[in-house]
Amino acid sequence: MTVHTETTGSGERAGAAGEAIRPHAEDAFAGELKALVAADDRPRPERWRLSPWAVATYLLGGTLPDGTVVTPKYVGPRRIVEVAVTTLATDRALLLLGVPGTAKTWVSEHLAAAVSGDSTLLVQGTAGTPEEAIRYGWNYAQLLAHGPSRAALVPSPVMRAMADGMTARVEELTRIPADVQDTLITVLSEKTLPIPELGEEVQAVRGFNLVATANDRDRGVNELSSALRRRFNTVVLPLPATPEAEVEIVSRRVDQIGRSLDLPAAPEGIDEIRRVVTVFRELRDGVTTDGRTKLKSPSGTLSTAEAISVVTGGLALAAHFGDGVLRPGDVAAGILGAVVRDPAADAVVWQEYLEAVVRERDGWKDFYRACREVSA
Ligand SMILES: Nc1ncnc2c1ncn2[C@@H]1O[C@H](COP(=O)(O)OP(=O)(O)OP(=O)(O)O)[C@@H](O)[C@H]1O
Ligand SMILES: [Mg+2]
Repeated sequence: MTVHTETTGSGERAGAAGEAIRPHAEDAFAGELKALVAADDRPRPERWRLSPWAVATYLLGGTLPDGTVVTPKYVGPRRIVEVAVTTLATDRALLLLGVPGTAKTWVSEHLAAAVSGDSTLLVQGTAGTPEEAIRYGWNYAQLLAHGPSRAALVPSPVMRAMADGMTARVEELTRIPADVQDTLITVLSEKTLPIPELGEEVQAVRGFNLVATANDRDRGVNELSSALRRRFNTVVLPLPATPEAEVEIVSRRVDQIGRSLDLPAAPEGIDEIRRVVTVFRELRDGVTTDGRTKLKSPSGTLSTAEAISVVTGGLALAAHFGDGVLRPGDVAAGILGAVVRDPAADAVVWQEYLEAVVRERDGWKDFYRACREVSA
């Protein structure tokens, strides 16, 4: 049985200077992707590296006929992944929507890596994203010296994806000003990008599509126009349905991140991970797991992503200043930091939770004490 769980990059892009801190998905999971290509005998859409089935397997994990274990990247409903992958094989683009920390960016990166073998054709959406980031810019030295020409043109990631039949990514679409967003309408409906300065255009070749992500909390910042929305198939990524699923996500990611930071593996830490997830879920849901006590929710999102950082931070503390075993004292400060965003209101919420729930719970005495210490 071959298990590919490498988190180190192939070094190709990292260059001679050393390993990248965070290799791209296609490098980090190059072994799995290669095994999938070899095992995949289903039809592939033009210019796809893998069939839709194999892309879904890459995301959800599974065991290949040759025994290769594909690790799950996304933990969640299979149907969501199937719809997302299928969308990319149609003429509609994919919009991943959800509250913060629901793996929108993560899924988008892995989709691009699996479908096109390249997750780097990326436009980061901000309030200041200019049209050039989606269309093209100019190399001004060239432009002034020789006038407008193809050589002077600096293509955007979207333009390159169109020309090469690849997957383009747009992060945080709804933060981009509305008029710039609308640049995407021609791209997505006509599949062409005019270059009036040259009297030319770039036509998208088959294989081109686009994955955008947008945060639920940003709703209303720059609402998608209905014209643009129609070009997208929207897939909503939910919060993990059960505590078990969330614990699995956190421990899996912490393990990967920990390995890339050279932290020792800490399987004994699983109880502490369970506790972090429990605290986060209870405060998020506004009720204890047993359904008996109503709670106030703090202003922070307390997402799975934040739980991952709390545990990773705790592991680093345990490794550098403890005996390597994750203990309540290692996560308490991190939890406090995630919960108390607004020093006035959230501190009250946290104190109430601490006294009413944590203090009374069997087996939570150490944790209660550790939390009291950092709150004081
Ligand atoms: N269901 C899940 N399956 C696997 N990993 C998950 C899941 N939910 C969250 N994660 C992990 O959470 C981390 C953060 O995810 P990511 O940055 O993609 O969130 P996001 O939805 O893009 O958040 P934001 O809205 O803040 O941009 C990633 O490391 C990812 O692995
Ligand atoms: Mg994101």
